[in-house]
Formats: sequence, structure tokens, C-alpha cells
Amino acid sequence: MISFIDKAVLQFDRALQTLVPHAAKANRSSPADKLKEAELDQSDRKHSSGLMRINHTGEVCAQALYAGQATTAKLAKVRQEMEHAADEEIDHLVWCEQRLYDLGSKPSILNPLFYGASFMIGAGAGLISDRLSLGFVAATEDQVCIHLEKHMATLPMQDEKSKAVLTQMHIDEAKHKAMALEAGGYEFPQPIMAIMTQVSKVMTSTTYRI
Ligand SMILES: [Fe+2]
Ligand SMILES: [Fe+2]
Repeated sequence: MISFIDKAVLQFDRALQTLVPHAAKANRSSPADKLKEAELDQSDRKHSSGLMRINHTGEVCAQALYAGQATTAKLAKVRQEMEHAADEEIDHLVWCEQRLYDLGSKPSILNPLFYGASFMIGAGAGLISDRLSLGFVAATEDQVCIHLEKHMATLPMQDEKSKAVLTQMHIDEAKHKAMALEAGGYEFPQPIMAIMTQVSKVMTSTTYRI
């Protein structure tokens, strides 16, 4: 019983850290820090903000997914890897959040909703099996990499700060994907990946705006 309460408190703390502005702290400094802020006109600024808002929500989902999986993972080793990966995603979350504020914008108001949904998906996958759970991480990271590539290609040219953040994230996410497959995750078949792409479209098309 005590351990259940401990777990619940930890989970609540993690959710708050993810959802409350400025609550999370990064381990690594942002790749954007050493670059100069560019002059962006209103439409460029709006576009950069929209893309960074999508990426920020993606990191909110990653936190929730890993947290959900860590609660139900059967093998201690898998649980540890989930927790380690979630720590790395905190950096991404903080970098994206910082970038959003620097652009004069803010995170999506839909984040609590996406956190809840992703937590359930993660916990559900973990309940079924560790290999499914790890496969889900690999598939998700794969989707994130595709988004990041698209975003890097369509960011306003002058916005080097946002681009630096996305470049480092892309390196980390590709590493997370490889880690999950190496740990025994299933490689999802194409039809499942196509469904995941459709689901992620719901997130990207809403959070670009709000
Ligand atoms: Fe990430
Ligand atoms: Fe990741």
C-alpha cells in the first residue's frame, strides 16, 4: 500500500513538472543558448512558434508515455531504461518551452489532455508486455524523427535558435529509438505505423494553433 502511495505521489510530481510552466529543470543547457536571436517578422514568428508548440507537446506526450510505461513495466531493467529516457526528454521539454517563451508565445492549452491520453497508452502497453512497450517507444521516436525533419526543413531560415534545438533533439530521439529496439522492442508493421501517423496528425494540427 505504501509503495502504491509513493508511486502515485511520484507520478503526480512528474505530471506537475511536465505541465506547470517553468517547473522542469534541464540537465544540459539549450543548444539555442549560444546563438543570436534573429529578426523575425510576424508571420515567421507565428510559424516558428507553431512548430515549437507541436514539439513541446510531443515532449509532454513522451514524458507521459514513459511515465505510464515505467509504472507497469515488468522487468526492472526496462523500467530503469524508461526512467532514464524520460530524464533526457526533460531537457527537450525545457528547451522547447524556453524557445516558445523567447518567441513571445506559450505552450499548448491542450497539454493536460495529451498527457492523460499518452499516460494511459503507455501504461496499457506496459501491462501487455515489455516488448510491446519498447516497440511502442521505437515507433513513437520514429514518428518524432520524421516530424523533426519536416520542421527543420520548414522553419524560417533565420531562426537558427529553434533549428539548433531541433537538431539536438533529432540526435537524441534517434538514439532512443535504437535503444528501444536493442532492448527487445518489436518493430511495428507498416499498417500500425500508418495509424500512428494519423493519430499524431490530430496532435500536430491542433497544437500548431492552440
Ligand atoms: Fe524528446
Ligand atoms: Fe526520445
